[in-house]
Amino acid sequence: MKIPNHVGFILDGNGRWAQAQGLSRSEGHQAGFENLHELCKYILKKGVKVFSVYAFSTENFKRSKQEVDFLMNLFVKGFKKYEKELNKEDIKIVFSGIRKAPLPKDVLRVIEEVEKSTKDNKSGIFNICINYDSQWEIVDATKKIVEDVQAGKLNAEDINKEVVNSYMYQNLPPIDLLIRTSGENRLSGFMLWQASYAEFYFPSIHFPAFKAEDFDEALEVYNNRDRRFGGINEKKNNS
Ligand code: FPP
Repeated sequence: MKIPNHVGFILDGNGRWAQAQGLSRSEGHQAGFENLHELCKYILKKGVKVFSVYAFSTENFKRSKQEVDFLMNLFVKGFKKYEKELNKEDIKIVFSGIRKAPLPKDVLRVIEEVEKSTKDNKSGIFNICINYDSQWEIVDATKKIVEDVQAGKLNAEDINKEVVNSYMYQNLPPIDLLIRTSGENRLSGFMLWQASYAEFYFPSIHFPAFKAEDFDEALEVYNNRDRRFGGINEKKNNS
């Protein structure tokens, strides 16, 4: 069984899952959080080296104040819980996204603390995208590249894909398998640069109900895909 090196995950459907159970949207997010916690440990134990999740987009700030506040509080409590548990599992936690308002100060503080306390862990990377949009990531990377060229730290002729990748919020390998739950077939601004050659998998199940066995099914599907990266599969096309 081939194990993808980097799995990207768009966590979708907390609200719809809650509605179907007669629960509030907040209870849906709480259930999503508990699920993410278990799933992260499972996925990294399977041998995946990097697990990236879309927890909150720049656009999600358009939601009601009540929902945004609930999620921000959940992140503060949640990141602390992840820090403790994932530190034990030797997992490094990093964050991608714009690190300023409207993210509240306590979220920004906890992001820094968690990154610092897990920075030397080696078993896997858990990348959490918060206040994230990949077009902004590319804009921010471009600005930093221009600054470095102007300061004489980088030669324009030396810019290549690896160099650009190193200017992203995190210098991560490409995504191999990208999953979005809830039956939506779109990226919504999630890691466009990193997902360039990713295999997409869109199960209809809502995120809080997506369990270890559903990830195993995603792995089966991934293993049956023919990844050619623009080339030709010689074994299949030898006639
Ligand atoms: C999408 O479901 C989910 C979110 C916008 C929030 C995701 C956050 C979590 C799962 C909690 C994670 C916690 C940490 C600490 C990273 P939705 O609200 O868009 O669902 P809907 O489309 O059914 O309304």
